[in-house]
Amino acid sequence: VGHIDDVQELRKNRPKTIPERFVRDMNERPAPAMALSLPSSDMPVIDFSKLTKGNTQQVHSEILKLADACENWGFFQVLNHEVDLTLMESMEKSSREFFMLPLEEKQKYHMAPGTVQGYGQAFVFSEDQKLDWCNMFALGIEPQFIRNPNLWPKNPATFSETVEVYSREVRKLCQNLLKYIGLGLGLEGDVFEKMFGMAVQAIRMNYYPPCSRPDLVFGLSPHSDGSALTVLQQAKGSPVGLQILKDKSWVPLQLIPNALVINIGDTIEVLTNGKYKSVEHRAVVHKDKDRLSIVTFYAPSYEVELSPIQEFVDEENPCKYRRYNHGEYSKHYVTNKLQGKKTLDFAK
Ligand code: SIN
Ligand code: FE2
Repeated sequence: VGHIDDVQELRKNRPKTIPERFVRDMNERPAPAMALSLPSSDMPVIDFSKLTKGNTQQVHSEILKLADACENWGFFQVLNHEVDLTLMESMEKSSREFFMLPLEEKQKYHMAPGTVQGYGQAFVFSEDQKLDWCNMFALGIEPQFIRNPNLWPKNPATFSETVEVYSREVRKLCQNLLKYIGLGLGLEGDVFEKMFGMAVQAIRMNYYPPCSRPDLVFGLSPHSDGSALTVLQQAKGSPVGLQILKDKSWVPLQLIPNALVINIGDTIEVLTNGKYKSVEHRAVVHKDKDRLSIVTFYAPSYEVELSPIQEFVDEENPCKYRRYNHGEYSKHYVTNKLQGKKTLDFAK
């Protein structure tokens, strides 16, 4: 993606028409919000403090709620998640400051072709592929060896430290949620932790400038996540933008203030043999408002071999996925364009 395809730069010139590379074919354009039927108010909300500090009865009922959310939505919001709210605000501020830097400054961290870290647009592999109305900045966090220190911004000065501390807290949340998800599945609480080894964690900030024709473009193309769990923070004041595919309709996600959004990724779908599904989602953009999201991906170590856990395979539920190496899956995921749940075909 060159200068001319940087959406923030494009926006500066207030073009009357949207460049062809962003305009979606008629059959895949986002439907107007009015046509969306399901209220996202039904979206499950998990009170994390009930899981960690509740009495036996509260823990039990919250685990059931979590299990139901994973099975029937694949998406849920978490309140009282123990990720410090001031820290979340700092993340928003640092990310915004980064995206507002002059392009020349951001280009110092540019995403090299074929990689997924740095500033730019991931998942673009051909000249004729449509582009999303989004700028991304992505960093590998854990384990340490996936980091590229040259990509960690010196400007704004607080950026790196904020990402570091935030990522530690989000990591704890992921580990805890996986424990309760395990328990909700009737497994041992440490089943995923043991299986994942030195879990991989990455962060991606998505900045969506306003777009004069939100009906023609995607902020982010429909996809499922290649992770085990994903944690999404949407910056305060952002318009609704995330939509999830629920019962064949795109449901816009109305976020509760201070909540984090969690979704099930492909890893958990495979391990549960499809009992829990990684749900397709996409981002749409707004006519006058920009939107910022901060997304953490939590996944198994690259050397882990994955296949459905025995408990979820029987005569009624034959094994849907083959055994594969997660590192190879990750590579497959990041070297293909986002296209619904197509990447999961790799595991079939
Ligand atoms: C994502 O799916 O990675 C982000 C979607 C969003 O910005 O809400
Ligand atoms: Fe996603």
